[in-house]
Amino acid sequence: MSAAVVTGGDPDRRQPTEQADTGVELAGIGLPSPVLTASGCAAAGRELDAFFDITELGAIVTKSIMLKPRAGRATPRMSETPSGMLNSIGLQGPGIDAFIENDLAWLNERGARTIVSIAGETVEEYGRLAAKLRSSGGFDAIEVNISCPNVADRGQVFACRAESAAQVVQTVRRSSDSRIPIFAKLSPDVTDIVEIADAVIRAGATGLSLINTLLGLVIDTTTMRPTLAGTTGGLSGPAIRPVALRCVWQVHQAFPTIPIIGMGGIRSGRDALEFLLAGATAVSVGTAVFHDPSAPRRIHTELAREVRARGFDRVQDVIGFAHRADDRDVPSPASAQHATPAPQETSSLEDWDFITE
Ligand code: DHB
Repeated sequence: MSAAVVTGGDPDRRQPTEQADTGVELAGIGLPSPVLTASGCAAAGRELDAFFDITELGAIVTKSIMLKPRAGRATPRMSETPSGMLNSIGLQGPGIDAFIENDLAWLNERGARTIVSIAGETVEEYGRLAAKLRSSGGFDAIEVNISCPNVADRGQVFACRAESAAQVVQTVRRSSDSRIPIFAKLSPDVTDIVEIADAVIRAGATGLSLINTLLGLVIDTTTMRPTLAGTTGGLSGPAIRPVALRCVWQVHQAFPTIPIIGMGGIRSGRDALEFLLAGATAVSVGTAVFHDPSAPRRIHTELAREVRARGFDRVQDVIGFAHRADDRDVPSPASAQHATPAPQETSSLEDWDFITE
């Protein structure tokens, strides 16, 4: 998906000058695209590979893996919500040994860059997972899921307290090869996400994945009971995008040099661009793949065009751009059609028509 000169065939590739260079460097890893999958939404990438070449993505972020095989929660596990989805899968998975033998081996054979997401019930379990991965190798980074909302006890959500979040990250850091980047995946369900970010960075996190799902609830008014067997679940999809963006913004403002993988309801290149402007170096696409399995590839192409249309040659150059409050010197847009509207000095009710769209 680089901007190579190609004529005919795939229309996405025909006009290279309309696409910005999509290469980014994420915690020292060179990626051809800032677009990744989101953990839990694409398993280990096999199913998506039937729709597009997964090696063209920045990386596959695998479903959080635990030490032992796990059946997960009873059904129903998913429920549609306005502009979103509530899920309580319960960390179903084959366990780390089978994951390494089958899924990780397949990803390596396929040549896909891989970020392995891990989840434990105790601090010690995270350490054992990291040690197993250290022995196996064959991946590019670890995402430490300390924020799964679907645990029996809310006290088990390590990311809800700075101290427990830091303990997990410190243990994973000590048990891993020092060259492996570690991304801590944080929960938005806290009073101050910057405080949690600070704690995990001090504990050795290389970067942050922002954000995990929000804890939610749906009640079926026919049965008059919670819809999900697990009662509560994790809310994802476009409904949470402004919350996710706010978290990326706050954390990037506090720690501008810390790499962030942004996620939460991204379904277009323009959505992805918002996250990069807020300070994310890469983005994960999750819920969108359930109705459009090719979404990550489409979003990659759309992003390359959106960035170029704003006069930038490289996606890398828009990272954190929205924080440059005094720098209104945006390069001339390549196409007037996509020009950023000038800020309005006055507003009338007519300016707010979009609210009813
Ligand atoms: C699960 C759900 C999530 O929303 C999440 O972030 C991690 C795990 C699950 O139920 O498996």
